[in-house]
Amino acid sequence: MTNIFDTHAHYTDSRFDPDRAKVLQNLPGRGVALALCCGTSLPDSRAALALAGEHPFLYAACGVHPHEAAGFGAQEAEELRALLRDPRCVALGEIGLDYHYDFSPREQQREAFRRQLALALALNLPVVVHDREAHEDALLALREAKTGAAGQSLRGVMHCFSGSWELAQDILKLGFYLGFGGAVTFKNARKPLAVAALCPLDRLLLETDAPYMTPEPCRGQRCESPHIALTAEKIAAARGMDAQELTDICNENGRRLFQL
Ligand code: NI
Repeated sequence: MTNIFDTHAHYTDSRFDPDRAKVLQNLPGRGVALALCCGTSLPDSRAALALAGEHPFLYAACGVHPHEAAGFGAQEAEELRALLRDPRCVALGEIGLDYHYDFSPREQQREAFRRQLALALALNLPVVVHDREAHEDALLALREAKTGAAGQSLRGVMHCFSGSWELAQDILKLGFYLGFGGAVTFKNARKPLAVAALCPLDRLLLETDAPYMTPEPCRGQRCESPHIALTAEKIAAARGMDAQELTDICNENGRRLFQL
């Protein structure tokens, strides 16, 4: 497999501490053409930008994850705005809502999400959205942001999409892309694969969420971007198409969304 665009990875994660430089150096030789390293906090976004500065195939998304939303105020929004000006930053993320872990109070999650969506609109940047067990509120926030600013258009991706086909259609209507990763290969999760099989080809993105969400049959290992081949094969088989062709189309989709 070649031409892989991993649209969601966390190469700043401590699980890469022992050999990060070597892993990143080897990615192009293992079929990875592009990867987006997503920040989860201000310090993590700075680290993602630093890594992106060292590797031409790596770009950064800067944002504050719902787990970190409790500390996100006006001061933090200003600091984030400064990071978003870096030319290696091509998206605002990872942002969203997580009602599964509830590490931050939900009202503060919604506030941080709204604030960052407004920032993305103001700076005309795509957003990388995390939605775990918060489908209704996530859709509501996106709709509000979409209609809130005249003449501008919110765009982005619902990463690791886990909702129903009905929700997928609502998200697609907003012009968003759907990101699919290792979950489509898990035996207990038929829904994401079914949605990935139905998603319009020009709105599909491949991702890992590395070092997490390693696809079968490698579950248990640390996930790295080349594992996307397993995800691509699973989705391509469900769609009755060639996995490399799917990977090529997803690469194009990612470059269109992130303007690369
Ligand atoms: Ni992530």
